[in-house]
Amino acid sequence: MNVSDSIASLVGNTPVVRLSHFAEGAKFNLFGKCEFLNPGGSVKDRIGFHMVKKAVESGALRPGGTIVEATAGNTGIGLALAANLYGFKLITVMSQKVSKDKVKLLEALNSETVITASGKAWGDPEHFMSRAKAIAKERGAWLADQFYNQNNIEVHYETTGPEIWEQMDGKVDVFVAGVGTGGTLTGVGRYLKERNPAVKIVLADPCGSLLAAMYEGKTGTSASYLVEGIGQDFVPGNFDISLVDGAIQVSDEESVRAAKKVLRTEAMFVGSSSGCILHAAVTYAQSLPGDGKNVVAILPDGGRGYLSTIYNPDWLSEKLPLADQQAE
Ligand SMILES: Cc1ncc(COP(=O)(O)O)c(C=O)c1O
Repeated sequence: MNVSDSIASLVGNTPVVRLSHFAEGAKFNLFGKCEFLNPGGSVKDRIGFHMVKKAVESGALRPGGTIVEATAGNTGIGLALAANLYGFKLITVMSQKVSKDKVKLLEALNSETVITASGKAWGDPEHFMSRAKAIAKERGAWLADQFYNQNNIEVHYETTGPEIWEQMDGKVDVFVAGVGTGGTLTGVGRYLKERNPAVKIVLADPCGSLLAAMYEGKTGTSASYLVEGIGQDFVPGNFDISLVDGAIQVSDEESVRAAKKVLRTEAMFVGSSSGCILHAAVTYAQSLPGDGKNVVAILPDGGRGYLSTIYNPDWLSEKLPLADQQAE
């Protein structure tokens, strides 16, 4: 029989698609790694299953135990799949900024949800990461800790990186990702640079995040922005900033316009971080000398988590009227 043993075996091995319409007329070749095609709809299914597997193996997570995680939603969804499959309880802690779609989805997936105020600085007791830590302690639960858990990097080093290398036949010049925890950029970046040190690793950073400034050795002041899941005001433990060869700042408007453009041109329905990463990929690739470079952009999640935000015309005209008016 041609069947899978469980949903767990369907995580990863996502396709890479040539984005020839999106990048029509460009002097480079743009490719998207379709992480939105994972069973839970995002790249975070990889770490959800892998971190749980490792925690069970180490004894940190016991049968019937509780998982707690601070998340922008997607890691919670990946963990929820693993929790349902293996019989764990799950509590997800999110800042108010996370779209209601993702909160509702997590509740439907049997997660208890805790919402904290948005705009709190890292280290503030009301920051979603501090709250998650406190809840894990109170409830005697296992904190997945995606920002520092090395198994986050490991799964990208062992799966996402090798997949990209093989799918591209080793012909990768540039890899572009955003950083939420840094797991994707660090794991994939490390693997690709080991195979070919000339591969350029590019950080796509929303305006308002401090990571691009930190890469350039500058200080800055963080500001709020609407793109979800990427950008930080600190360097997470899982982000190896020394791998980065270039950083591109992208405005919310540019991110939303790129997300809408990839839907119109490639029929790919993606979230705001994918828009940010695609815009950064094009901006960086245009600045490179020579023609025919192969640029791979990670597309972390799909658009269904954003029906009440960037795909809601009322929300858009209130928050980002320019994104609504100008086509890319
Ligand atoms: C929508 C979205 N895009 C991108 C990322 C970034 O991935 P990573 O945590 O591996 O840096 C995340 C995770 O935080 C996310 O939720």
